[in-house]
Amino acid sequence: MNIIKLDAIGSTNVYLKNLLANLNLENFTVVVAENQTAGKGQRGAVWNSEPSSNLTFSVLVKDLLLGIESIYDLNVAVSLSVFNAIKILGIGGLSIKWPNDILADNKKVGGILIENIIKSNGEIFSVVGIGINVNQKIFGDLSQASSLANMAGKDFDKEILMNSVLKQLRYYFNSLRNGHKKAIWQEYHNNLYRISTPSAFELPSGERFMGIIQNVSQQGTLVVLLESGNTVEYYIKEVKILY
Ligand code: BTN
Repeated sequence: MNIIKLDAIGSTNVYLKNLLANLNLENFTVVVAENQTAGKGQRGAVWNSEPSSNLTFSVLVKDLLLGIESIYDLNVAVSLSVFNAIKILGIGGLSIKWPNDILADNKKVGGILIENIIKSNGEIFSVVGIGINVNQKIFGDLSQASSLANMAGKDFDKEILMNSVLKQLRYYFNSLRNGHKKAIWQEYHNNLYRISTPSAFELPSGERFMGIIQNVSQQGTLVVLLESGNTVEYYIKEVKILY
């Protein structure tokens, strides 16, 4: 496996995408950085990470056999991979907040940013960016974030954790290829934050409302039962789960 280790870079996702433009990289090429100076988060947000304390890496996934219509399968597989790698460390209270935040005791400890590149020949390359707050101790006062070290009261080896995530990724990709999609989706649903629980949501306009998460559809939309009795589906940029 090709692992490119960097001291400092803007974003491992951007670095890997730029490499891809010029080189024929092998599947599962990994770029990992000690320090990201312009880390990217979901919805155009910034991903801040204390230098050297945390894991920030990107993985190239080239052989996504499943096609564009099942592209959310990759998101499910990656979320479960990070979730399980953290669970194996003995950390409890874990959940997956749609679409792919990893929470421990309702605080965000991991984030995922998948960027897909569709080549002119129809091939889909995915750059899977993973950030895990491993050994950082201090977060801003109002922050909804925490780290594995804060949860467990001890530090963890970042390299061992990254290898564990990569092992999980291989396991879930193989399972998907071998036809176990249904079971994998079930596992994703079982671990979803606030599923079947009355919850508060926010629209991009700032409007807030209550509802109950029923499901995540195959296309990755969040299916919410509203107080009116209607069911609505939201794409990722259309709604935020507040609590
Ligand atoms: C999110 O939860 O908003 C997604 C965060 C993704 C962060 C990772 S860190 C490695 C990779 N490089 C980036 O610039 N972002 C992802």
